Amino acid sequence: MNNSPAITAETRDRLIAAACAARPRAYAPYSRFTVGAALLADDGRVYTGVNVENASYGLTVCAERNAVGTMVAEDGRRIMAVAVCTENGVTPCGACRQVLSEFADDQSDVPVWIIDGQGGVRETTLAALLPDDFGARHLR
Ligand code: THU
Repeated sequence: MNNSPAITAETRDRLIAAACAARPRAYAPYSRFTVGAALLADDGRVYTGVNVENASYGLTVCAERNAVGTMVAEDGRRIMAVAVCTENGVTPCGACRQVLSEFADDQSDVPVWIIDGQGGVRETTLAALLPDDFGARHLR
């Protein structure tokens, strides 16, 4: 467990709103599956990302990983919470789970809110999504 203060309902709602506001900005002309992601960092800021596809399909980058890129580029480092918005309320892919966990100090504490196109929200955690993760501690 970490010693971070609990995330308030207002902060959760702000993060969820940011993910859903970002989603229409996704560049997904091939799959038409738009994804918006938002990260709350320990600096209190919210960083967003959307999926960005490419005509060379394999070069597509998911919303969650783009959000991590935005956060790191703007000097955010530690992820405190995650929100992901899609039409059908799916959870982050395996690659994104690993990349998110890189920046979560104690991933058992990190809430992940999954939002669907009808405004339904379900809460899970990074640890539930990626148990027994591989991390920097395994390299020391
Ligand atoms: N996608 C994400 O952005 N995040 C995920 O966790 C799963 C998949 C995107 C990639 C691609 O643009 C589209 O959804 C369909 O796979």
